[in-house]
Amino acid sequence: MGTEYAAPRGTRDILPGETEKWRFVEEQVHRTCADFGYAEVRTPLFEHSELFGRLGEATDLVQKEMYSFDDRGGRGLTLRPEGTAPVARAYLQHHMDAWPQPVKLYYISPMFRYERPQAGRYRQHHQFGAEALGTLDPAIDAEVIMLAVEFYRRVGLSDLSLELNSIGCPACRPGYREELSRHFAPHLDRMCGDCQVRFERNVLRMLDCKQPECREVSAGAPRSTDHLCPECRRHLDELILYLEAAGLNWRLNPRLVRGIDYYTKTVFEVSAAVLGADRALGGGGRYDGLIAELGGPDTPAVGFGLGLDRLLIVLEEGGLLLPVGQGVEAFLACAGEGAHAAAFKLLMELRRAGVAADMDFTQRSLKAQMKAADHMRARYVVIVGQDELARGKVILREMSGGGQSELEVHELVPRLVGLARKSLRDGSEGK
Ligand code: HAM
Repeated sequence: MGTEYAAPRGTRDILPGETEKWRFVEEQVHRTCADFGYAEVRTPLFEHSELFGRLGEATDLVQKEMYSFDDRGGRGLTLRPEGTAPVARAYLQHHMDAWPQPVKLYYISPMFRYERPQAGRYRQHHQFGAEALGTLDPAIDAEVIMLAVEFYRRVGLSDLSLELNSIGCPACRPGYREELSRHFAPHLDRMCGDCQVRFERNVLRMLDCKQPECREVSAGAPRSTDHLCPECRRHLDELILYLEAAGLNWRLNPRLVRGIDYYTKTVFEVSAAVLGADRALGGGGRYDGLIAELGGPDTPAVGFGLGLDRLLIVLEEGGLLLPVGQGVEAFLACAGEGAHAAAFKLLMELRRAGVAADMDFTQRSLKAQMKAADHMRARYVVIVGQDELARGKVILREMSGGGQSELEVHELVPRLVGLARKSLRDGSEGK
């Protein structure tokens, strides 16, 4: 087959060998969230387009990256580019403000953004996101940050850089914006086209530009932390106290801003050296105005989204992912007349007993079957041969040691159940 049926640009297949690594990471998500008291939420893959329009008219996400379409009923829909707006919508729709607060939710899901594909940047990427809705307490900002850090620790990544900032609130941000405009105005003619637009639409985003000239200009820009109102200042100071109590390594970056417009007060980003300077592993912050903007009551909230595709790249590069593969406990190799039917019966009995097992489905030679068993990393091979069957027996062979024994057909299942339990026990003792 030619490439005309290749997966669409910016998307990929995750194949066996890879899926196990994803499952390992996903398991750590579920476990860490359970330990932190976050419950899983699943929202639709698409939403009404207006919902995502709330993420900021001036953002690339809304302007250039949404997969929007009209369905057959003429409704404007958009494939989810991020998870926060859907969770906020679900919070409102299901009256979660009547639940005990904060409501702590998490999700693992694909996100869709029409971006220029590169290493670590896809049109369908996957995020682990967490959102804590219903409290303004800085302790919850700290908890959310610690949830991300603990998750990274559990997957084996502790060499992280965590940057923190506060970008203020509707009370103090206008003043900061004015300061920024005053700073950038005289340099506009040597800044990039995007920054000229940002200057008009959202001057804060100019701090995030990666162009060398623009970086030079923003290096001397006023710092958001010097322009916080007393409430935002206190929030940041208290958050820092909590992070220090937890012994976290973090760095204040007063020029850190994020690509979506809903943020207020706390913003943070996690990065890992191998991804390069402009590739965040994850990030998040507070969005105290979003739910009110969607028509709900004033509801402070904070959360993050961690890119899992990028995380897997980092784990792979750092040699932090053990080669994992399923491997079966037993492979049933067949030889001679009637062997396949007898093997199939045993195979189903083994599987019902919870022993991972497989057999030959291609009528290969015994030698080729042994090779297949090796390929599947089977711990045992059961030789189901015509001659042995005639005596009511099968041969059980250990693949690594090579030892083998003959046993009664009816002994096979209990024996393998026992061996599988023993190897599980030995495996967990070794850890
Ligand atoms: P975001 O920074 O847009 O935040 O995305 C979060 C993470 O998703 C990024 O740091 C990055 O690792 C990953 N990511 C984003 N776009 C791509 C892409 N095209 N390819 C691969 N990975 C990507 C949000 O989405 C917010 N909803 C986070 C949040 C939750 N804030 C508060 N609550």
